[in-house]
Amino acid sequence: MTLSIEPLEERHFPGLREALDSVARERRFLAFTEAPPPEQALAFYTAVLTNRWCLRVATVEGLVVGWCDVLPTHGQARAHVGHLGMGVVSEARGRGIGSALLRAAVEAAWASGLTRIELSVRCDNARARALYERHGFAAEGLLRRAFRLDGKYFDAVAMALLRD
Ligand SMILES: CC(C)(COP(=O)(O)OP(=O)(O)OC[C@H]1O[C@@H](n2cnc3c(N)ncnc32)[C@H](O)[C@@H]1OP(=O)(O)O)[C@@H](O)C(=O)NCCC(=O)NCCS
Repeated sequence: MTLSIEPLEERHFPGLREALDSVARERRFLAFTEAPPPEQALAFYTAVLTNRWCLRVATVEGLVVGWCDVLPTHGQARAHVGHLGMGVVSEARGRGIGSALLRAAVEAAWASGLTRIELSVRCDNARARALYERHGFAAEGLLRRAFRLDGKYFDAVAMALLRD
């Protein structure tokens, strides 16, 4: 397996959207239940490149199998804060790809000047919570009914990592 963790480039756009779509359609982890339409995803990925936002992709033999982004939040007083999201397609999980992506994205976020990275993760997502904890993220609170799918609510945990 030739794993590579890379900053987003235009050649990744279709594969990245497909990876997002596949994780979203599992309906267990993300706020999305499917990827945005191609033109909307393309416009967003173009904005990532134009604004030099932090988005790392994982490729195996050249195919996108995961991503981790740390995107800006709103407001001048929160210019130091990024919001993290990530996913690895189900067939590629449990091989250290999530860890490698997270490490690379956090490093890039600090290099860009951010000093706080926050995220929210569903309480029942034990694998992701354990990954974040292993990388130093601390739980900051419970987000009640933060997700709703098929009429059922799910709580989430707010977590954050501060730059040393
Ligand atoms: C969370 C996610 C990105 C992790 O990616 P990954 O490539 O599987 O991660 P890694 O292989 O680096 O690490 C997985 C770790 O979780 C551990 N793990 C697996 N199942 C677990 C569970 N139920 N509870 C706790 N830990 C678990 C593995 O043993 C491994 O630990 P290790 O590195 O000590 O061996 C991936 O599972 C995923 O995409 N999930 C769906 C999307 C998602 O949850 N995104 C985050 C939303 S906030």
